[in-house]
Amino acid sequence: MAPVRLLVLGTGGMANTHAMNFATIPDVQLVAAVDVDLAKARAFAARHDIPNTFTSLEEALAWGEFDAVTNVTPDRAHYPTTLPLIAAGKHVMCEKPLAETYGKADEMATAAERASLVNVVNLTYRNVAQVQKARQMVLAGEIGKVRHIEASYLQSWLVSKAWGDWSTESQWLWRLSTKHGSNGVLGDVGIHILDFAGYGAATDIDHIFARLKTFEKAPGNRIGEYDLDANDSFTMTAEFTNGAMGVIHASRWATGHLNELRLRIHGDKGALEVIHRPDRSVLRACLQEDVELAVWKEIAVDPVATNYQKFIAAIQEGRGQEPNFRHAANLQKILDLAMVTELERRELTV
Ligand SMILES: NC(=O)c1ccc[n+]([C@@H]2O[C@H](COP(=O)([O-])OP(=O)(O)OC[C@H]3O[C@@H](n4cnc5c(N)ncnc54)[C@H](O)[C@@H]3O)[C@@H](O)[C@H]2O)c1
Repeated sequence: MAPVRLLVLGTGGMANTHAMNFATIPDVQLVAAVDVDLAKARAFAARHDIPNTFTSLEEALAWGEFDAVTNVTPDRAHYPTTLPLIAAGKHVMCEKPLAETYGKADEMATAAERASLVNVVNLTYRNVAQVQKARQMVLAGEIGKVRHIEASYLQSWLVSKAWGDWSTESQWLWRLSTKHGSNGVLGDVGIHILDFAGYGAATDIDHIFARLKTFEKAPGNRIGEYDLDANDSFTMTAEFTNGAMGVIHASRWATGHLNELRLRIHGDKGALEVIHRPDRSVLRACLQEDVELAVWKEIAVDPVATNYQKFIAAIQEGRGQEPNFRHAANLQKILDLAMVTELERRELTV
């Protein structure tokens, strides 16, 4: 296979996870790192043994010696950086959310499709083998008709300093400010939990009603240039295309949970539960005769390919890959509608 020359765009916290994962894939060469902050780009390049650094995408494009890019910039930079990359014929893996609005996400998906480039959005929890197995079991009919779905994404970084101090560090403050391109917890991890629920239960959402809330966090709800106005908890009721009802919620105030996704799928013949935590993921099932006394058993799973591996394989094999920009745009439409339902206080059709 021809090697893939990869450029890392944005060299903040999450870019380290990207660099470490890509470095383990044979035939990937990490050729350049780009960040608007030169010191950050240089430190990152030294840490991951990357030979070239740039302080703007324009300079990197003028140089041009790369095939693909992993875009790990903040949410609001995804759209203005991904479009020129596509125009230059580069394959792109982009962090979630694809953009701040459906309109922009749709434009990015259309541009990538027209250019026939590999486009993947990093919905990280597709890498959880347990959720992939749950989907296979639902599709194989093991739990019968799905009737009820419960999904939650719990984080506690507003009450814990395990990941750093949100009140002093820019990487957390931009996530709390709509002016800085954040749609709050809904935009940040809402896309993960919508994907986790829909992918795991092998269905899509067709009706939603959501409530969003921003809690007081500082005097005047402001720290320096950051207005702390982005939502930090949301609750959503949903109806799915398979007819099931569901509840989906997420919070940064989920004290006691650093980063936990839960999915419960109840069918007329059985039920599944996936719990993903930083230290361990589990799939449990209640099936067949166990339904009578509600007995749950853990299900073993095989390892799965990561989004990073799938992106590179798609480039090498010249084919499309999931989860792609179109899927992320479709999820963004639900997130946009969730904000409208908060304002209008009524259910909307997706
Ligand atoms: N998939 C996941 O599980 C996951 C986890 C964490 C973060 N993320 C996503 O990754 C992205 C980055 O998050 P982070 O925590 O690393 O943020 P961060 O603030 O730590 O890093 C972002 C970096 O991008 C740089 N940057 C900003 N604009 C740029 C531009 N136009 N060109 C080049 N560099 C630019 C900043 O200087 C900064 O170094 C976000 O979209 C976030 O939602 C995804």
